[in-house]
Amino acid sequence: MIVASHRGPERFQREADGTFTRQRGAGGVVSALQPLLAGGGAAWIAAAMGDGDRAAVAAGAARSDDFDLHLLSLDPDAHRLHYDLISNSLLWFLHHGLFDLPRRPVFDDRFEEAWSAFRSVNQAFADEIVSAARDGDPVLVQDYHLALVPAMVRAQRPDVSLVYFQHTPHCGPNSMGVLPTTAATELLASMRSCPTGFHSQRWVRAYEACCEIVAGMAPGPAFAAPLGIDPEALDASASGPEASRELALLDDLVDGRRVILRVDRIEPSKNIVRGFLAYDLFLERNPQWRERVVFVALLYASRENLAEYQAYRAEVEHAAERVNNRWATAGWTPIALDPEDVYPRSVAGMCRYDVLLVNPLKDGLNLVAKEGPYLNERDGVLALSTEAGAFDELGDAALAVHPFDIAQTASVFESALAMDSDERKARAARLRELTASRTSRHWLDELVAHARAEAG
Ligand code: G6P
Repeated sequence: MIVASHRGPERFQREADGTFTRQRGAGGVVSALQPLLAGGGAAWIAAAMGDGDRAAVAAGAARSDDFDLHLLSLDPDAHRLHYDLISNSLLWFLHHGLFDLPRRPVFDDRFEEAWSAFRSVNQAFADEIVSAARDGDPVLVQDYHLALVPAMVRAQRPDVSLVYFQHTPHCGPNSMGVLPTTAATELLASMRSCPTGFHSQRWVRAYEACCEIVAGMAPGPAFAAPLGIDPEALDASASGPEASRELALLDDLVDGRRVILRVDRIEPSKNIVRGFLAYDLFLERNPQWRERVVFVALLYASRENLAEYQAYRAEVEHAAERVNNRWATAGWTPIALDPEDVYPRSVAGMCRYDVLLVNPLKDGLNLVAKEGPYLNERDGVLALSTEAGAFDELGDAALAVHPFDIAQTASVFESALAMDSDERKARAARLRELTASRTSRHWLDELVAHARAEAG
């Protein structure tokens, strides 16, 4: 098997004595695939991400015990244009509906340069796949950074068993029409050249409509295969000493109060500011809940080299501060905002919450919406955006959140906190059953089956 993803399974750091140390790679795609494939002989093609990775490649030390690792040392300028401009400032914004259309995006000559850099990075991945692929090997191409790879591989090796999986939503034809037509057509033509998967049937339909309406092409084979949790890894983290320590700290912090939790990257699509505004409204409407609940917001930094993300982080901090200034009393801080990315702390939070808020504007899946209910020990209520892919599977057992409607979100807090214990128990049991029954292994097996079906 060959995996191609922008981020690799391991990151390298050069130590003072010239040797290299390794750490597990970051990001949702890596976290899902790494444990499933480690030690199984898979090849993994990824970009060298920083100075440590590049130095390891140059020294011939970018090797892994778990994978046949191919780290691509890309031209730094081309890589920056590929990742910051096209992948994260354009395609991410497009598929999550984040553009402020009267102002952005603007396509000028600089776009041409960035698009050809995007193409060249995709070509480097495709070339590596072509030289690594052996007969019958399924090749799993992961995510929007590599959307042009399928057509580039097909052009050289039509025989390869290929599947492309996009972890984001897919926008509909009106939004796709914002892209220059040649770029939109190039993306869609590539995706339709192999089976293409998403976490939700809604994104499948949107992608198919784009093929037909924007590009005037029949869509290629497309499927929905939502990612599931990794129960063994979650069980191990939850029962470990670090999570127990974090749980004790959290208990001290909340001091017997109810807990509303969120766990997110600081990311505009996560809709963090509206979550705080809804909580503010909830406290205004419900004096009886003041001092009896704490909103624990575990928020960690993301893509901080992009101006939009820096500005959003400031807005998030400001919104939390405003709520705290308005309602805090001597012994109570309404929002506990924690910007440190400590995984056992997130695990402890997920075990302990009474209400888990997952209110993205749009989200391909949102794995926290599955991991939380799986780990939770208090019959916690899931308040879930209808715009998260996970809503397809969990919507019946969750309370539905309209992500733009803060008055409705405030009412969801009221219903969740006032829910009687029988209903909470029944919903939590259903959520646990749903989240435990579909694991990340099921998802991987489906991807491989789609790759093989196409080739056969
Ligand atoms: C999403 C994307 C992943 C990406 C992750 C973190 O989950 O689907 O492909 O790795 O966000 O984003 P970053 O830009 O830090 O890799």
